[in-house]
Amino acid sequence: MDQMTHTTDWRSLHGHALENKPVLVTGGAGFIGSHLVEALIRLGADVKVLDDLSAGNPSNLVRGATLVRGSILDPAIVESAIQDREIVFHLAALVSVPQSVLNPRAYHEVNGTGTLNILEACRKLGTRRVIYSASSSAYGDAPELPKIETMPDRPKSPYAAAKLIGECYVSAYASCYNLDTISLRYFNIFGPRQNPHSPYSGVIAAFSKMILSGQPPRITGDGSASRDFTFVHNAVHANLLAARASGRLNGDVVNVGVGKRYTVLQLAEAMLGHFGRTDLRPEFAPPRPGDVPHSLADLTKARRVLGYEPIVDFETGLKLTCEWYGQSLAPLIQ
Ligand SMILES: NC(=O)c1ccc[n+]([C@@H]2O[C@H](COP(=O)([O-])OP(=O)(O)OC[C@H]3O[C@@H](n4cnc5c(N)ncnc54)[C@H](O)[C@@H]3O)[C@@H](O)[C@H]2O)c1
Repeated sequence: MDQMTHTTDWRSLHGHALENKPVLVTGGAGFIGSHLVEALIRLGADVKVLDDLSAGNPSNLVRGATLVRGSILDPAIVESAIQDREIVFHLAALVSVPQSVLNPRAYHEVNGTGTLNILEACRKLGTRRVIYSASSSAYGDAPELPKIETMPDRPKSPYAAAKLIGECYVSAYASCYNLDTISLRYFNIFGPRQNPHSPYSGVIAAFSKMILSGQPPRITGDGSASRDFTFVHNAVHANLLAARASGRLNGDVVNVGVGKRYTVLQLAEAMLGHFGRTDLRPEFAPPRPGDVPHSLADLTKARRVLGYEPIVDFETGLKLTCEWYGQSLAPLIQ
């Protein structure tokens, strides 16, 4: 696997609590999952990954983690992967909003039914805790900011709807079967290893590829959309805090972000600066269906339930990410 230029000191943040813990990370060969696996290995956990590699990359996998190649749509594979595990981090999903608009059934199956398969196996096998990667897209386009967990759900795309169905099951399994669960609602996670090659890439990955290829960053909409851009180590930190939390987690939904927002235009300009291409000017394209105008996390509940504080701010995360794309992508493009 590649080396990141900056590593968070996971040991000083999380001590020895997860040493030798048998855990499963679904989607562990993907972007966020691979960072979580890396941190868990550093903390001495016994890590298994379940991933069908449909989007993940085996080269993302850290030495020491065991890969089970299979789909969360196959209940037998899911059960055998979970059998000897104490904690399940469930990240496997289809993750593109525009692709979900084109193919809603596939998104329902993987993100909805796939999550049900994970919870069913955990219920049967008596797994101690399930930590679900949920999405802030559940808040939809309501104008109120910041987004607080008590706000009504307003999914605007099949992706958002299917991720929300996963949350509902996570909560229902806590109520009906006393399963210890939590949903972490991520806000725009970015960082090294986010795939820049798909037409549906996250905005920071996509801009990196465009700028490194000498093209202007192409903004969908007028650039005024704003996001709580969250460096990936913050999402990893929230997962680790959830894994270590004492007492029972009761299916709650908890925001995970940084609590600050930047417009897409500010982002594009900052990235042009990082890549030394201030000669390029951003270009604008029509907005995409299902995209939401603004997002910003309220972190009050994350602080109360998990003791969560962001550990890497936007500027630091963006600099690290641009450096990583510069090193890993530039040689492939030039
Ligand atoms: N990236 C973000 O900004 C963001 C925001 C909110 C929520 N999330 C959630 O975080 C999780 C991880 O997202 P990511 O950005 O790392 O995406 P990713 O595509 O890099 O990772 C998803 C992983 O799941 C695997 N996968 C897909 N379908 C599978 C299946 N049927 N069986 C087994 N594995 C399967 C893929 O191969 C991939 O490795 C997802 O649940 C996503 O919904 C991400």
